[in-house]
Amino acid sequence: MATERTLSIIKPDATNRNLTGKINAKFEDAGLRIVAQKRIKLSMEQAGKFYEVHKERPFYGELCEFMASAPVVVQVLEGDNAIAKNREVMGATNPANAEPGTIRKEFALSVGENSVHGSDAPETAAQEIAFFFSGLELVG
Ligand code: CMP
Repeated sequence: MATERTLSIIKPDATNRNLTGKINAKFEDAGLRIVAQKRIKLSMEQAGKFYEVHKERPFYGELCEFMASAPVVVQVLEGDNAIAKNREVMGATNPANAEPGTIRKEFALSVGENSVHGSDAPETAAQEIAFFFSGLELVG
């Protein structure tokens, strides 16, 4: 199995409810290592740039406002098949469709306020990690 890295974001609905530790425990219990992590407050411009791929979607404005509404925790998770494993641990985007035991099933409030983001493929993982972290900040 390939060791991979993926970008994870603990979103404002979760930081507001003090859920960072509980969410990190889910990652660590699944064998994912948190090899970089910082708590930051995104500007509307930064949120817009990060989610540029969704620019034409009807929920884009709402999504950017939400992501800039309170601090987020951005992190790099490392492990065997980390991208797929993280998506498994997060559960479906819409918490109504998420499996029991997943982060979104347990903590998400709605499809928009869904507690976590995770990269969906190796190319996007590399881009998203570079968006928030320099090489010097990544210590495996
Ligand atoms: P995320 O994995 O961060 O990637 C894009 C985000 O857009 C997604 O999680 C959801 O939080 C959000 N999103 C997707 N669909 C909707 C929707 N119908 N309404 C509001 N937000 C949405």
